Amino acid sequence: MTETKQSMPFYYSFLLPLIVIATVATTVAASNITTLPGCPAKCGDIAVPYPFGIGAGCALESFQLTCNGTRLFFSNYEIDSISLDPPEVTIQLNASWKCYNATGYVVGQESPSFETGLTKPYRLSTRNTFAAVGCNTFAAFDDYEGYFASGCVSLCHQESVVVDGACYGVGCCRSPVPKDVWYYHPCSDDRFNKSQVVDFSPCSYWFLIDNDKFQFRAAESRMSGRGGFTTPVALDWAVRTPATSCEAARRNTSTYACRSDNNECYETTNGEGYLCNCSTGYRGNPYLAGGCQDINECDLKEEFPCYGQCTNNNGSYVCSCPSGQEGDPTREHGCRSKDSFTLALKIVTGAGVGVLFLLLLSLMAYLGSKRRRLIETKRRFFEQNGGLLLQKSITAKQSIGFRIFAEKELEKATNGFDDDRVLGTGGHGTVYKGVLDDRTEVAIKKSKVMDEGQRKEFAQELLILSQLNHKNVVKILGCCLEVEVPMLVYEYVPNGTLYGFIHRKEAISIDTRLKLAAEAAEALAYLHSSASPPIIHGDVKSANVLLDWDFSAKVSDFGASRLAPTDEVQLATLVQGTCGYLDPEYMVTSQLTEKSDVYSFGVVLLELLTRRKALCFERPEEDRCLAASFAKAMEKGRLEEVVDEQVLVTEGREAEYVIRDVAELARCCLRMTREERPAMREVAEALQRLRRWREHPWMRLDLEEEASLLGRD
Ligand SMILES: *[C@@H]1O[C@H](CO)[C@@H](O)[C@H](O)[C@H]1NC(C)=O
Ligand SMILES: *[C@@H]1O[C@H](CO)[C@@H](O)[C@H](O)[C@H]1NC(C)=O
Ligand SMILES: *[C@@H]1O[C@H](CO)[C@@H](O)[C@H](O)[C@H]1NC(C)=O
Ligand SMILES: *[C@@H]1O[C@H](CO)[C@@H](O)[C@H](O)[C@H]1NC(C)=O
Ligand SMILES: *[C@@H]1O[C@H](CO)[C@@H](O)[C@H](O)[C@H]1NC(C)=O
Ligand SMILES: *[C@@H]1O[C@H](CO)[C@@H](O)[C@H](O)[C@H]1NC(C)=O
Ligand SMILES: *[C@@H]1O[C@H](CO)[C@@H](O)[C@H](O)[C@H]1NC(C)=O
Ligand SMILES: *[C@@H]1O[C@H](CO)[C@@H](O)[C@H](O)[C@H]1NC(C)=O
Repeated sequence: MTETKQSMPFYYSFLLPLIVIATVATTVAASNITTLPGCPAKCGDIAVPYPFGIGAGCALESFQLTCNGTRLFFSNYEIDSISLDPPEVTIQLNASWKCYNATGYVVGQESPSFETGLTKPYRLSTRNTFAAVGCNTFAAFDDYEGYFASGCVSLCHQESVVVDGACYGVGCCRSPVPKDVWYYHPCSDDRFNKSQVVDFSPCSYWFLIDNDKFQFRAAESRMSGRGGFTTPVALDWAVRTPATSCEAARRNTSTYACRSDNNECYETTNGEGYLCNCSTGYRGNPYLAGGCQDINECDLKEEFPCYGQCTNNNGSYVCSCPSGQEGDPTREHGCRSKDSFTLALKIVTGAGVGVLFLLLLSLMAYLGSKRRRLIETKRRFFEQNGGLLLQKSITAKQSIGFRIFAEKELEKATNGFDDDRVLGTGGHGTVYKGVLDDRTEVAIKKSKVMDEGQRKEFAQELLILSQLNHKNVVKILGCCLEVEVPMLVYEYVPNGTLYGFIHRKEAISIDTRLKLAAEAAEALAYLHSSASPPIIHGDVKSANVLLDWDFSAKVSDFGASRLAPTDEVQLATLVQGTCGYLDPEYMVTSQLTEKSDVYSFGVVLLELLTRRKALCFERPEEDRCLAASFAKAMEKGRLEEVVDEQVLVTEGREAEYVIRDVAELARCCLRMTREERPAMREVAEALQRLRRWREHPWMRLDLEEEASLLGRD
């Protein structure tokens, strides 16, 4: 026994983090009588209630314990605590261990078992777990007859994979403990060669442990040394002899363990045996004559609240309001005077309730009609916006991925169009970020107004746009037509706009610029060629080119001319944009064509080359318009005056050719007369060729041809 004591410091120093020892509340019966007369009630700090007892004559058969100083034992097992309700004993068991040398051979081991006996009170509680700690460990335990074995495997080939708290087979594993186990024989075999892990896991340990007190720490898998620690284990106890059930036990009163009056016998769920409990209203030790004593509830106000008059009876109590009062005496101020509720008061209250009821009724009727009106309005908008047609077309063409959203759905997705969700505002309206029920992130565009003329075509146009499918075009996922101005739902593009990307501080390589230009050009060329009549973007600018998570370009806001409202605000932006991006010929003809997009794209190319804004009011008057400054610089042959210094400085000589070629391309796009501008497809191909040349410089020849094609001599 002393040896166990000596091993304790070792146990605490190594396993204190592993096993969180909770102070076990030793349940002492409320009654003062807990033992037979003349028997010790405690061993050290541990209460020993009957049927347990120290010494002959103090305990029920097979419940006898030994107390050596302050330590309590049955057989060789040291007891931590004893409880009657729930019927539980906690003990300390020695852990098993095995250590290995560098070639994986066992150099030391110990595997103590736990054994009480079929007729003994104790069974392993199912609250325990069987755990094994260490890498490449297989451990198990079996029962007396060898009917079952329960065990687990922990494998790890690297120290870093072992994680604190995770006992799921990596550095630590566990398996449950079945019912009715009174014999525990642990074992481990060496089917996993330990030699690869021996430097960080030289030993393996396996043990039973109370699950509530077990927390695995990764450091434990590195432990070395010969066990020597114990673990807390919970046992269920019951009276299992000479009878194993209440009914059989009652037949022989001289051996029946439930001695007190007012007790109830019940059968244990772990093994065969029975237990006693005091009846309701009584507490104490049911195994002793007179052990179950009446609870004086009137003295225990916290447990049995009573704010009125309290009367204690044998096994029960009466709590009532003082005479002349009624209500709930178990609540504070629960009792009220009986007479305060007079007839007059009853009439007044009755009338009040009646009026309230009528008011409620009319409110409901009002809300009902308002709701009906709202539904009606939604339906009207839906029809006006071409919803029926759209629905029919969608079913006919089976457009996958395009849906008609309900207003409620979008409201929910944007948290009620919360200001926090605004991604951007413009002349057209506001764009919100939304998250649909299936977690898809979307951008929802809520426009301001739309005129009658556009309404009719809206659905038709939308259907065309929804069928666009290009990796550099922002996809339209659906729309909501139940509102006055339809809302559009787009895929969400996370990395901001090209405008933002260009006009920040960080350096941008010439290749990145080329890539973005080429991708945007591809998208526009696709728009121009995908439908008839062609889809004209109508509002090409760097702010309408979005950047995806991988920084590829995605053109958005296309079909502005078709879908977007032409309200005054927008007109104002267009006029303002004249010197920025807008095709000068549009001012004369008021007609947008594909070549208008080409012009605007030319300006975007310039922005990419120069990192200057299309229209910059901070500059002197004659220098405000990027297209004009560029034209002047080209004329003078002094391109370097406008081009971004950063590319000129950091990129090599080869980049200069590229810059010159892109500048030339931009000049073609920006020609005053539409017929002289190249088609978008040609622009896109020229940019692709430039990209390819950057990768394979020997293809330069091709490019010269291209230049001449674009009218360069
Ligand atoms: C536990 O180990 C200690 C010393 O290592 C030994 O004295 C004691 O008898 C063991 N207990 C059991 C139940 O095997
Ligand atoms: C019995 O216990 C109560 C409280 O539980 C205590 O007030 C009383 O003094 C005890 N009586 C004896 C004889 O120990
Ligand atoms: C009690 O402990 C003492 C030493 O402290 C030891 O000599 C003795 O054998 C123990 N008795 C029992 C019953 O375990
Ligand atoms: C490990 O133990 C085995 C068997 O006892 C022995 O043959 C081997 O040499 C030992 N290896 C080392 C590295 O000590
Ligand atoms: C484990 O594997 C090593 C080589 O990987 C071998 O030398 C050693 O003998 C093996 N040990 C056992 C116990 O099989
Ligand atoms: C009751 O049990 C006692 C002790 O085992 C035994 O001597 C006695 O005969 C039993 N009585 C009956 C009626 O079985
Ligand atoms: C025993 O009685 C106590 C108090 O009356 C009660 O809380 C507990 O649930 C009872 N146990 C069983 C198994 O009936
Ligand atoms: C409770 O029972 C005892 C005897 O069993 C009796 O003496 C006592 O008067 C009873 N108390 C009440 C309040 O009924």
